[in-house]
Amino acid sequence: HGMLRGVVAVDGPSGTGKSTTARGLAMRLDARYLDTGAMYRAATLAVLRSDVPLDVAKTTAEGNDDVVAVALGARVELSTDPAEPRVRLDGEDVDAEIRGTEVTAAVSAVSALTAVRQHLVDEQRRIVDEIVEDGGGIVVEGRDIGTVVTPDAGLKVFLTASELVRAGRRDAENTAAGRAGAADTQADLARRDRLDSSRTASPLRPAEDAVEVDTSTLDIDGVLARLQELAEDRGLVT
Ligand code: DC
Repeated sequence: HGMLRGVVAVDGPSGTGKSTTARGLAMRLDARYLDTGAMYRAATLAVLRSDVPLDVAKTTAEGNDDVVAVALGARVELSTDPAEPRVRLDGEDVDAEIRGTEVTAAVSAVSALTAVRQHLVDEQRRIVDEIVEDGGGIVVEGRDIGTVVTPDAGLKVFLTASELVRAGRRDAENTAAGRAGAADTQADLARRDRLDSSRTASPLRPAEDAVEVDTSTLDIDGVLARLQELAEDRGLVT
């Protein structure tokens, strides 16, 4: 399939197949992979594990200093290997725990905090710059990658899918991970999207120069073929 050079930004709401797509593209194009949602999730887990109470209903950009302090104090480490994307919190493997219902319910509140975003965006840019300076390629997925984290990305993709399809995908994901019954309902998804899109700090929205790809009726191979084509058109594949 060739090799990626530079940055592909993949943004969009949950359930659009972002992770499968971004990771699959990185595998296909021999690139690195960065799941920025995992960083927000790990920071959220740190807050939940601390004795600082988190008021999830109150999602202001300023939040509360104690919550911010815990989130900034957390040591979040990610591997960028698409074959084995690992997330560690203070040295502990937290891959499974950060996908659980408790973190999922609280993550919008923590990721709405400006200070937390600033801190994690700096870290994300550091990871991306290191790989790009080395002449490599990286696929970065999140909500604000094309708009904030890497506005110079060679390709920006904004994935969409109908609400029904998205809720179905989340269900399947939860079932596969042994979290049956703990599934995000369509209403939960809609609530999280609303919070992610309406927050003042880097709301979810497509970058002006992003290409929108509707994944409702495409399978993973179809989406990957489309992205590969877009990356080739922009001269990112050698
Ligand atoms: O992609 P995900 O479901 O793992 O993301 C978890 C949460 O983190 C989601 O509610 C939005 C937030 N997030 C964000 O605000 N900015 C990012 N770049 C990535 C995720």
